[in-house]
Amino acid sequence: MGWVIFRIVRDSTDPNSGSIDLRSDTVTRPTPAMRAAMAAAEVGDDVYGDDPTVNRLQSRMAERFGFERALFFASGTQSNLAALMAHCGRGDEYLVGQEAHTYKYEQGGAAVLGSIQPQPLDNEPDGTIPLDRIARAIKPNDAHFARTRLLALENTMGGRILPVAYLSSATGFAHAKGLKTHLDGARLFNAIVKLRVAETVAVEGFDSVSVCLSKGLGAPAGSVLLGSEEFIAAALRWRKALGGGMRQAGILAAAGLYALDHHVERLAEDHANAAHLAEGLRALGLSVEPPETNLVFVEIPEPAVGALGAHLAKLGIVASIGPRTRLATHLDAPRAKIDAALRAFRDFPGWR
Ligand SMILES: Cc1ncc(COP(=O)(O)O)c(C=O)c1O
Repeated sequence: MGWVIFRIVRDSTDPNSGSIDLRSDTVTRPTPAMRAAMAAAEVGDDVYGDDPTVNRLQSRMAERFGFERALFFASGTQSNLAALMAHCGRGDEYLVGQEAHTYKYEQGGAAVLGSIQPQPLDNEPDGTIPLDRIARAIKPNDAHFARTRLLALENTMGGRILPVAYLSSATGFAHAKGLKTHLDGARLFNAIVKLRVAETVAVEGFDSVSVCLSKGLGAPAGSVLLGSEEFIAAALRWRKALGGGMRQAGILAAAGLYALDHHVERLAEDHANAAHLAEGLRALGLSVEPPETNLVFVEIPEPAVGALGAHLAKLGIVASIGPRTRLATHLDAPRAKIDAALRAFRDFPGWR
């Protein structure tokens, strides 16, 4: 059964008005204060390295996460791809989870554009890949095989937080086997806020990390790649080849800086709203996976899928309804909207 997607698009900067969009945390619109910061940004040509706001964002992120250097990208897809291409050359291989975004949801960019062979490995339900599974996938140094160069992990993964101890043992193991390590940290700040750990602890053991500003942090675009001087120099070359050299990008970087100052701690609200939403859905008799951060997964009985989507759409609720429905909480879905969504679920005549 495919997904049934209902959409109502309205432009509103007031999170308490308009439709309730629970498809993703990427749907947030910049707040008036974020827009003001963007309008006031000092800019220059970032391809020449002249944009002071981009440079400020990059320095701030490198310092915060304890890396030598950072690089601003238009998107997480581009940042991840440039990272894979900076770590791996033609005929190299990277080990990655079957469910990982870089493998499953980025059109196989590593293979298509990077000539890098992905070796997908089953993820456990908690998002980890056991070390013995990683060990078995590393190819011997033999002309028959691609050269295994990199282990790529993701945190959070499907809203789940990978344990810090696991990350430490997986990256330690990879390094002992001569591999580099990359983390897709699109929603890493959700894990940091939930675990109350320092940024530097959350990325320990990784040679590179991609962090998105356009998910729960609420910026309209932008991701930041972190790594060593040498690694970022290589990624900068690939960014240009991938068409990612932006000019007066400080307008976007200003949104990222604003988000770092104002939208990190508030992720805890999204987590509390996700827990509240899960509890409300469970009270309706639905099977709901306990959320760890801002993503709620709920099973919708197959026969109800189409009618539920239509019912919610009529009430101004945008959701990707399927047998395993993902609902995301975010900046533009405050508690009042979550409660309205719960009422709409409750009033669906198809349950009875
Ligand atoms: C885990 C993860 N990584 C990477 C990305 C890619 O980010 P973008 O949409 O900015 O390309 C996403 C997007 O949703 C994601 O969820």
